[in-house]
Parts: sequence; C-alpha cells; structure tokens
Amino acid sequence: MKIVITGCAGMIGSYLTSELLRIYPNNEGNKIIGIDNLSRGKLSHLKESCGDRYGDLVFINSDLTIFSMDWAKHLHECDILIHLADVVAGIGYVSRNESYIFRTNLLINSNVTKAIFESKPTRYIYVGTACSFPRDKQLSTESKPLVEEDQFPAYPETGYGWSKLMGEVESAFLSKEKITDTVVLSLHNVYGRYCDYSKETSQVIPSLCTKGIASASGNKILEIWGDGNQGRAFIHAQDVISAIKKSLNKGENCGVIQIGPNRCTTINELAKIIVDYLDKNIILKHDLTKPVGDIGRSANYQKAKKILDWEPKVTLEYGLKDLIQWLVKN
Ligand SMILES: NC(=O)c1ccc[n+]([C@@H]2O[C@H](COP(=O)([O-])OP(=O)(O)OC[C@H]3O[C@@H](n4cnc5c(N)ncnc54)[C@H](O)[C@@H]3O)[C@@H](O)[C@H]2O)c1
Repeated sequence: MKIVITGCAGMIGSYLTSELLRIYPNNEGNKIIGIDNLSRGKLSHLKESCGDRYGDLVFINSDLTIFSMDWAKHLHECDILIHLADVVAGIGYVSRNESYIFRTNLLINSNVTKAIFESKPTRYIYVGTACSFPRDKQLSTESKPLVEEDQFPAYPETGYGWSKLMGEVESAFLSKEKITDTVVLSLHNVYGRYCDYSKETSQVIPSLCTKGIASASGNKILEIWGDGNQGRAFIHAQDVISAIKKSLNKGENCGVIQIGPNRCTTINELAKIIVDYLDKNIILKHDLTKPVGDIGRSANYQKAKKILDWEPKVTLEYGLKDLIQWLVKN
C-alpha cells in the first residue's frame, strides 16, 4: 500500500499516521507519506504519537496553497490519499479571519484536486466539517440531530464552514467524473492529544482544559465564552481514526457521511467535567461579549452506522481526562 496523508502533523493527522504506520508496516513493502507545512501541526507531536515507527514515515514539508511537483509527485501510483490539511481553529480566530481561511482552504483543496487529476489515486478520503451545515438547523441545543440531507440549501455560519463545504462539492465532482473513488466524512467537533493549545488559535476543548489547569493552581476562576449554553457534538480523535480506517474500503461515492455522536453537550457541561476532574473549587465566569458560533448541534449518525459500521466509543469523561493529563505533561 502507498498512502499519502496531508496535514499529517496535526491533531487528527498525528493519530492517523501512527495507526497507519502500525497497520501497514514499512518492512512489508508499504509506504506512508505525510505532507504538512507545520503551520499548526508540530513534528514533536507526530514523533510522540508514532514513537519508533516515525522513522518509517516519509515526511514532506510543503505548503499546499502552492501547487508544486515537489509534493504532488508523491501522489503518483498512490493507493489512498487522505486529505486532512487546512486552516482550522477556535471560534475566536475563525470569526476574525474568515476571508483568509476561506481563500486558503479553497487554494489547498483545489491544488490537491489538481494533483488528484494528474495522478489518479485509487481512493480519496476528504474530511469536511459539521460547521458546513446551515446555521438555521443549529439554533438550539434541542435542535434535531443533523442528517446529511440537511446540508442544502447551504448557509454555514462562517467562512471556514463555507470553505470546507466547497471542498466537499469539489470532492463530489471527482466521484461523479470517476476520477477516483471518493469518501467524504463530515466530522463534528474533534478533540484529543496532539492538538493546538495556544491561546490565540486553540479550539474550545483544549482552550477550556488549559484555562482550567491554570486556574486550578491560580485564581480558581474558569472563563467561559458566552452563557455556556451553546453546545456541540464532541468526538474523540480515536473515534475519527476508526471512521477513517473503515473508509479505507467502505463508503465510497455515496455522498457525505457524518461522524459524530447524537448527543449535544453544552460548554457548561464540558466545563463541569473539567472542573470536577481538576478542582471542584473552580467557579465558572461567563463573558457574554465573546463569540459563541452555532448554538447547538448533534449528529444522527445512522448513515455512518449503516455504511461504515461505525459508532462512537470514547466517552467524554475518558477523553477529557486523557487530554488533561497530556496537556499537563506538555
Ligand atoms: N478539529 C476539529 O474539530 C475538526 C472538525 C471537523 C473537521 N475537521 C477537519 O479535520 C482536518 C484535520 O483537523 P485537525 O483538527 O487535525 O487540525 P490541525 O490544524 O491539527 O491539522 C491540520 C494540519 O494541516 C496543516 N496545514 C495547514 N495548512 C497547510 C498548508 N497550506 N500546507 C500543508 N499543510 C497545512 C497544519 O500544519 C496541520 O498540521 C481538517 O481538514 C479539519 O477541517 C476538524
């Protein structure tokens, strides 16, 4: 097997690369190639995740916003291309940088599509996002779990959601024109180790965990953006890896498949799990001036169950504890 992973040094990429190096060992003739420009991902995270197998990875440091044979040549005779690279961040960064994110992600996706046209990998796995679903389907934490048909007519909340939706549309053309077998997974809010935990760009879970760790040994106050009643369907990166692994031989050319739990967890509920684990004396303080994004969503994952035989397994309690322990160590 020759497998190429873009965004291999990111959160999901680090878990995935490690797992694929394990399943497809180098000494059995397999080749795993990872491409990343390290703009958000870190080689140290990738190395930590892969351990001794890191040496079997062919790592290419390239910027996918610029089309170049330096990276595109690696898709030649590739069995599977898994495209994870893009600009993704927390709601604060996303709402301040919509045009940059929109343009950059379009460039990345179109360049990857051009490379696919030229080298025709046998299979292409694209990951979209639940942020591409229309905002009017996410107005309450009691909103009906999203189904794939809800995506259109489209009206995503942010430029990030629009850019990822355009990537889905472009992937569908590859399938329709029989360029390659294409799987499109729409991921809900993913969390896990190897994530970006910087103040500026981190997503809600690493942000709350790092603030919680600091407040446990400091002022015992945990700041929450908004009233905390906004919610998301949180999914651990290990569950996403299990969906991607199932997509290696299932789910092609059948439209978008949602990957996420059918439960909407509010930010206040999330904060309570974090506080209970770290220090029960921490109190929550709400900042109503900060952006909150969509109000509530969850996934009806019946399509994933039927086509991929996939279900979420990792509990929030376990996943958060594991992440906090990793953040403390790092
Ligand atoms: N994290 C989530 O909650 C979530 C939810 C839905 C979908 N997704 C999708 O999953 C994929 C991976 O997300 P993640 O959470 O691992 O994010 P991440 O930021 O940790 O990983 C993305 C990787 O892409 C790399 N990258 C960015 N721009 C690049 C460029 N121009 N050239 C080469 N590499 C570049 C980054 O350095 C990073 O390592 C993304 O496509 C994202 O849209 C993530």
